Amino acid sequence: MQLQSALQFSHTLLEQVVNPGDVVVDATAGMGHDTLKLAQLVGPTGHVYSFDIQAPAVTATKAKLAEAGYHNATVLQQGHERLDETVAGPISAAIFNLGYLPRGDHALITQPATTLTALQKCLGLLAPEGVVVVVCYYGHPGGATEKTAVLGWAAQLPQADFNVLQYQFLNQVHEPPILLAIQKR
Ligand SMILES: C[S@@+](CC[C@H](N)C(=O)[O-])C[C@H]1O[C@@H](n2cnc3c(N)ncnc32)[C@H](O)[C@@H]1O
Repeated sequence: MQLQSALQFSHTLLEQVVNPGDVVVDATAGMGHDTLKLAQLVGPTGHVYSFDIQAPAVTATKAKLAEAGYHNATVLQQGHERLDETVAGPISAAIFNLGYLPRGDHALITQPATTLTALQKCLGLLAPEGVVVVVCYYGHPGGATEKTAVLGWAAQLPQADFNVLQYQFLNQVHEPPILLAIQKR
């Protein structure tokens, strides 16, 4: 057994919590890896709502779904802070990959205010035992500010309502990503 990277562990958590027929959210579509994973998990009777502010991300995510033959996702070029305009709960899971689009414009990063708004909205849509997973990359300019905001927000969530897990390799060089998993009790 090898300990999983934050990215691998994010998918392990999704596999545990998402069932066929569920409604779920990918808040940061990017190249569509998480959207495809969620589309596989919810199956033809479920639905994935996927958000990104960048047209190339939306195009890439739609192409990835089409190539794999999935028709159970709505991919929107829209900020995740407005997700409640489209998504009606309950959702069993939401995933956020914070940072910039790899091989994209590194200036287009997730931002603390909009990230926190979207996270809070996801908590409001969560089904009991549903999970919001956050993979936080913070080595880029602006990343540390967002990391501090997200960790601070997560740490003050009431224990009676949510279990909050932090997962990170402490001895890795550079800035190893932090995974947060927030489960509604
Ligand atoms: C680290 S990447 C996501 C990677 C993605 N999960 C994948 O599988 O490739 C972060 C993404 O968040 C997007 N983003 C930034 N601000 C956003 C916002 N307000 N709403 C939705 N997406 C946003 C960026 O455009 C970027 O594509």
